[in-house]
Amino acid sequence: SDEEQNEAVLNSFIVIGHRGASGYAPEHTILSYELALKLGADYLEIDLQMTKDGKLVAMHDNFVDRTTNGKGKVSSYTLAELQELDAGSWFNKKHKKFADSVYENLKVPTLEEIFDAFGETANYYIETKNPAKYPGMEKELLKLLTEHGLIGSNATKGKVIIQSFSEKSLRKIHISNPDIPLIQLIKYKGRANVSNSQIKKWKEYASGIGPNYRMIDEHYIHTVRKAGLWIHPYTIDNHEDMKRLIGYGITGAFTDLADQLVQASKEV
Ligand code: G3P
Ligand code: CA
Repeated sequence: SDEEQNEAVLNSFIVIGHRGASGYAPEHTILSYELALKLGADYLEIDLQMTKDGKLVAMHDNFVDRTTNGKGKVSSYTLAELQELDAGSWFNKKHKKFADSVYENLKVPTLEEIFDAFGETANYYIETKNPAKYPGMEKELLKLLTEHGLIGSNATKGKVIIQSFSEKSLRKIHISNPDIPLIQLIKYKGRANVSNSQIKKWKEYASGIGPNYRMIDEHYIHTVRKAGLWIHPYTIDNHEDMKRLIGYGITGAFTDLADQLVQASKEV
């Protein structure tokens, strides 16, 4: 059944397609997500920003400059204005090796368009970005997830995981819906250490953590795993690093190269 299938996904190593298959196609476009699934990603990673008129869209940066032909803050655009921008051509210039004319003029997708495109055929790993700047972001996200049957009593468990650097945002979601698995993202500036009191705090609301992978070691991973938390480091694109960290016991990882991580998980 779907239910059993997803329990299996949650209990085994998961490949998280970072911004889709962003090593091969323009990040956060429908084509990038399609490719991620084709390459074997278990989850589509989606960063959320909000337009001037309150629509949730998939974009990593607060500004449109890097990934479109526009300029300025996402929050200064209405959805209609934002969707006039070309969100694919920049990739062809930057990544000549993977350039493809089909990427020209791709649109910035709304979260709804993503759900309409993939429905229950995909699992979603969604990040609330800058939630402090976007009041109502969590509420809007939960509303859309409910409308699309992706959370709630009839939804498959683990269909959606929500991640954030903001503990406040995650706690807000946990209060509204304690059944959604949550991941606390962390960006360590130096070698990572973890205390029992820190772990206890995370366990109040989260199912796991997502640290930047270069700062963690085997001991850190074992400590987190022993506490029963998942650990999904970001963003691993190097094959040797993938194998090393899988060997240490990580339970999934973010990658721009989903096919490489699928391969590495078979080699360990
Ligand atoms: O969400 C995991 C990872 O993507 C966090 O960093 O900046 O790529 O969103 P960022
Ligand atoms: Ca992210």
